Amino acid sequence: MSTVQANPIALEMDHVNTTIVERLKSDVVLINQLSAYIINSGGKRLRPQLVLLAALASGYQGKDHHTTAAATIEFIHTATLLHDDVVDDSKLRRGRDTANEVWGNEAAVLVGDFLYSRAFEMLVEIGDMRIMEIMASTTNQIAEGEVMQLLNVNNADITVDEYRKVIEAKTAKLFEAATRVGAVLANGSGEMEEALAAYGSHLGIAFQLVDDALDYSGDSKALGKNVGDDLAEGKPTLPLIAALQKATESEQKILRHAIENGGREHIDDVLKIVEATGSLQTTLEMATSEAELAIQSLSKLPASNYKTLLIEIAHQAATRTV
Ligand code: IPE
Ligand code: IPE
Ligand code: MG
Ligand code: MG
Repeated sequence: MSTVQANPIALEMDHVNTTIVERLKSDVVLINQLSAYIINSGGKRLRPQLVLLAALASGYQGKDHHTTAAATIEFIHTATLLHDDVVDDSKLRRGRDTANEVWGNEAAVLVGDFLYSRAFEMLVEIGDMRIMEIMASTTNQIAEGEVMQLLNVNNADITVDEYRKVIEAKTAKLFEAATRVGAVLANGSGEMEEALAAYGSHLGIAFQLVDDALDYSGDSKALGKNVGDDLAEGKPTLPLIAALQKATESEQKILRHAIENGGREHIDDVLKIVEATGSLQTTLEMATSEAELAIQSLSKLPASNYKTLLIEIAHQAATRTV
């Protein structure tokens, strides 16, 4: 008797979660405590799902390299979050106090390093030089993205192109790596690999654009992180860049002051301008067109449940509220 499978990767995701828990172990108590704290607070586990779906949509037949790679990518993602929350001075993540808030910046940075290096130990076990190469260059570009962003804090003159470069590097590269690695594990054709990599890249851009919109319009409780952090830091994301382009002269003054000085005191004025100029809409429209490009990239992939889910994920990325 055949059963209807609601989620075609449910079993594999269970395996990924077990791998994550097993591979977090260290003899150093603080590492166990802090890493278990952030990993067990959940998160959407989107990137590991992408690894599995890309591998399976490309016909992966192996046993567990895809789940190991998926766990690895979640470790790298989590490491970037630990570091990002220190840099952004964020207090809430996945519905809990951030690790830096509980254990301090030093511990959060060092355990982030532990997760990064553990991820590379696991990649060595997979033993595929091409995958090592993808992940080495990906983590390198994420670091560049975060540094580029740092250089643009308080910069009210940043262009849309410069902003886009930052989000491609800090966010889209890991999405791209997730889907590319899936295709490589399946020994997919070059064409298949590029199609899935393009899907991941567009999806990652859409995802970050929505994240940046939600930082102005989202619900902290639902998101599990505080909104308004970007403005507080003076981080010029698309909602502000687009608002600056359409604002009146006096509104521009308010926006520039907010970007150049950061803080939360002008948040109501800024929100009004962001709304009046329709710049959240602009941001979300750009996300929708990136999600559409992601879906188009999959056109040559053979039909499967996995491909259907990849398409659904792209639709959700552009419309999500969490
Ligand atoms: C947060 O990523 C960082 C961004 C790229 C915006 P997620 O929203 O995927 O975080 P978790 O893993 O679900 O907590
Ligand atoms: C994403 O940037 C961080 C990384 C990809 C490293 P954000 O700073 O916007 O992410 P959140 O909003 O804190 O999750
Ligand atoms: Mg942040
Ligand atoms: Mg954000």
